[in-house]
Amino acid sequence: MEKNINFTKEKYSIAGPLIDNSDIEEISKMMKIGWYGKKKYYYVEKFEKIFSSYHNRKYGLMTSNCTSAIQIVLKSINLKKNDEVIVPDITWISTASPIKMMNAKPIFCDVDKTNWCIDHKKVEDLITKKTKAIIAVDLYGNMPEMKKLELICKKNKILLLEDAAEALGSSQNNVKAGKFGKASFFSFHRTKTITTGEGGMILTDDKMIYEKCKFYRDNGRNFKNSYWCDDSFGKFMPSNIQGCLGYSQFKKIKKIIKKKGEILKSYNKYLKELKLIQLNQIKKGSINGAWSVAIVWDESYKKKSDFVIKKLNSKGLPTRPFFFPLSSMKTFSKKDKKSINKISYSISERGICLPSALIITEKEIKDYCIILKKILKD
Ligand SMILES: Cc1ncc(COP(=O)(O)O)c(C=O)c1O
Repeated sequence: MEKNINFTKEKYSIAGPLIDNSDIEEISKMMKIGWYGKKKYYYVEKFEKIFSSYHNRKYGLMTSNCTSAIQIVLKSINLKKNDEVIVPDITWISTASPIKMMNAKPIFCDVDKTNWCIDHKKVEDLITKKTKAIIAVDLYGNMPEMKKLELICKKNKILLLEDAAEALGSSQNNVKAGKFGKASFFSFHRTKTITTGEGGMILTDDKMIYEKCKFYRDNGRNFKNSYWCDDSFGKFMPSNIQGCLGYSQFKKIKKIIKKKGEILKSYNKYLKELKLIQLNQIKKGSINGAWSVAIVWDESYKKKSDFVIKKLNSKGLPTRPFFFPLSSMKTFSKKDKKSINKISYSISERGICLPSALIITEKEIKDYCIILKKILKD
């Protein structure tokens, strides 16, 4: 068993990875062999291979982060100016900002109140002639009704893409998050389930999409004549150092997902006396990778998340707000969609994220829950 390292850590870290000596040893090896000739992207390719195979996908392509992965995929599906892409209103900005960066339009759909993900019942009303794709986001490890979304996309001849940045280890009816849609993307940011510091991955079963993504990942270089570029799109390459850390982290995937599951279980145990709350969804036949545990409390508690965050912080406890509806941000719209995307706005006002770093202890979770319960009940 690898010995964990004693980090100088804050109590109750909100998010953070499991780094041990095996990562340090692998990186040391990379530093010796990973710079020249055939080995210069050795670890990136190794990581791409094991990661795609774990997800039962034909192709994996590592990128500098997940935001760039999304931008590359959108370019590969030929997203054009004024095209529309439907995304859930509640997600991190990176699901939608690459759409805007490409002069296309993100259309914000309300989320479902049980899984906090895009509501398949509301999505069809938003499809127009300009709709090119739907990006389904697996929020905090929860997953939307993927089969239903697949059917809607097929019927309307639009593409499904899966933003699985927060769902490594999740599955729905035995199909892993990251296996849905034309392409999917993951994040390996410092805070994510496995980390490469910064990093991302595109998965697809479509050779043409893979090749286009590979082309756009690296300046639009010609595959045969490396110093000739057939297009200009930017550079989103990962380094061998990132690839190596990804490879090393991924070797511990079972242990890491197990720990994430235990963190969710502990929060369930210590908060169970609060009857009217929702934590990350646990469904039969499915696994929740629980990247971050989130809590949404019932309206009857009559408390807004700002208030709960302030109270927790005043006791020295960290937390994060639940994601804000993107349609409430000026960068996307002049007028918010509060009266339309009612569930998104309501959940966001009644939710927070709980400390879920991989180095958190059971005792820390227990102590945190005692204070949180008191704040909610008072
Ligand atoms: C749902 C979602 N999509 C995309 C991203 C972007 O990931 P990255 O920070 O690697 O660019 C994140 C990261 O927080 C995310 O949570």
